[in-house]
Amino acid sequence: MQHLKQCHGLAQIFLIRSKSYNLLKSNVPSVSVWNGCPSHRWKSSGGHRWQKYNNDGVSKLTFALAGLMAGTGAVLAYNLHRGKLEQAATSGQLLETETSSLPIYTIEEVAKHCSLDSGVWVTYKGEVFDITEFVALHPGGDKILLAAGGGLEPYWALYAVHQQDHVLQILTEHKIGVLNEESYKKQESAHPSDPYFAEPTRHPALQINSLKPFNAEPPVSILTDSYITPSAVFFKRNHLPVPTVVSETYKLEIEGLPGGAVSLTLSELKSRFPKHTVTATLQCAGNRRSDMNKVKQVKGLNWGIAAIGNATWSGARLRDVLLYYGFGPDVAAKARHVQFEGLDRDVTGTSYGASIQLNKAVSEEGDVLLAYEMNGEELPADHGYPVRVVAPGIVGARNVKWLGKIVVSDEESKSHWQQNDYKGFSPGTDWDTVDFKSAPAIQELPIQSAITHPAEGTFVDSYAGEVTVKGYAWSGGGREVIRVDVSVDGGNTWHVAKLRTSDEHNPALPPSPGRAWAWKLWEIDIPLPDKTQELQIVCKAVDSSYNVQPDSSAPIWNLRGVLSNAWHRVKVKEDVTGGRAGGVIDSWNQLCAHWFSISHGGDWEHKRTSDGTADERGPGLDYGCGLFYSPAVVHEGLPTVYVLCYSPAVVR
Ligand code: MTE
Repeated sequence: MQHLKQCHGLAQIFLIRSKSYNLLKSNVPSVSVWNGCPSHRWKSSGGHRWQKYNNDGVSKLTFALAGLMAGTGAVLAYNLHRGKLEQAATSGQLLETETSSLPIYTIEEVAKHCSLDSGVWVTYKGEVFDITEFVALHPGGDKILLAAGGGLEPYWALYAVHQQDHVLQILTEHKIGVLNEESYKKQESAHPSDPYFAEPTRHPALQINSLKPFNAEPPVSILTDSYITPSAVFFKRNHLPVPTVVSETYKLEIEGLPGGAVSLTLSELKSRFPKHTVTATLQCAGNRRSDMNKVKQVKGLNWGIAAIGNATWSGARLRDVLLYYGFGPDVAAKARHVQFEGLDRDVTGTSYGASIQLNKAVSEEGDVLLAYEMNGEELPADHGYPVRVVAPGIVGARNVKWLGKIVVSDEESKSHWQQNDYKGFSPGTDWDTVDFKSAPAIQELPIQSAITHPAEGTFVDSYAGEVTVKGYAWSGGGREVIRVDVSVDGGNTWHVAKLRTSDEHNPALPPSPGRAWAWKLWEIDIPLPDKTQELQIVCKAVDSSYNVQPDSSAPIWNLRGVLSNAWHRVKVKEDVTGGRAGGVIDSWNQLCAHWFSISHGGDWEHKRTSDGTADERGPGLDYGCGLFYSPAVVHEGLPTVYVLCYSPAVVR
């Protein structure tokens, strides 16, 4: 079925009608976008072209890709495709096209191929590609059509995941010609600048999961050093470029209340409503996804255990703002949700969006904030400057940053991230069978805990007779963590850890029932079992509803790797090689010193241990020194490592 209309750019995109189409349809909503097509407004369902891809293996891949919007989720999908390409390459199916023998096109000629009906052509670095058949396989769903008839560069600049060899390899498969020189020059000069050009400076300690958009978590070894996570190392989860928002011109729009649409400035938000401060933990739905990846590969950023942090947030209560602008029983009778839109936008101009339930938003006990401060300072750019939603107890994804609009509605947000992402499924559901409409959007997160010390694969000193284990625990919905059980023998015997709800120097009152928004840090010294070379340390937490973590990831595995909250397990070895004067360093994490210098028999190199507490005095003003050996020395006879420590903690 075809339906073509003349237009100047706005395209209603529909995907291919087929068995796959129905699934794709449920995953990828049709969108109104600027498609780069100079002369056609078109509706298309023309799906015949990709039929040859619809064999078993590739259709699975298609479904696997279909649930993804462009962005970080595409990384894994590309990797799946790369696997197939690599196989193809070794079997000689991928042949480079000889450019010199190919036809030469102008940009005007390329521009005519801007739909599935006319064929989808794109250019990249002066070469022309017919990607019609690849459209259905594109990890970002139909967004590739935005570039139809023009250059890929502006889009690849936004979704930097494309700038990898295997992606170019995919493209090469579809090469059909080159642009003439004049066209290439014209196109080059028209490319917009990198949409990530205004990204803020980030702390070097952050471990980056993806650079553009920026996604990073702190090293585990510093995560629980303080009860309040410093903003600089608080995990950062961005789906799009960080928008540049000028506080003087910032306006927050509010819709769905009796008085009609209102807009309020930052200073009105600050002056009109009392400032509330809430200490709340924010956790990404994908925290600990890497554990699920160990069971079976899932799609998404491979977060470790540090996509979680605890901060103090200050701002106006959402409830106060909604009441001020007319929220009352009439609205409550009809509305069910409060939708949020961010000011960050994708290539189609679509904002990041999410919603929470109305009762959470307006409840006096809900503590939902329109926050403008984090840890006592204005919100950092990465965390939503100037205003973000903080919905304590609710999954990170609904805590919309760079808040531009609030809509009180009878419907959930229509955003991709509310409808087609951040939902849980059975381990038996795969990309062939998933129906995103069948599952509710994640709101309150389940009980969680993880071990932050000792680190996986490190050594514990058997002469100490015990091991200190530390970590965090938190539960969604304001349910308080009431206990953390820790085992050093894989779960055969258990010990109850000591919990704390604040830093020692800053004692806090226990949380009120149902409003335990902040994590608890825990710690315990456990005697080392006799005759054990390797310890399997395990933790599990219990919340006030007696919810406990499941013991393993396999039964809770899901295709997006969300809600990963199985018992956390860390394997360490006992160091049986020597005493303190010649200890064993397995990793920097193991050192207690803040600063130290290290030498392999040559120059001294100054380092800081990963507990992160910088000693400003720097090297030279030390308390003592010791001779240590790397495990490699002990076990493989490699050169001795000398370590000079600047804290008494190591050399006792
Ligand atoms: N808000 C906007 N506008 N854009 C985003 O990409 N990411 C969400 C949420 N709010 C996001 C957003 C997700 S998935 C998470 S986990 C949290 O922000 C992360 O918040 P943080 O970066 O402040 O840690």
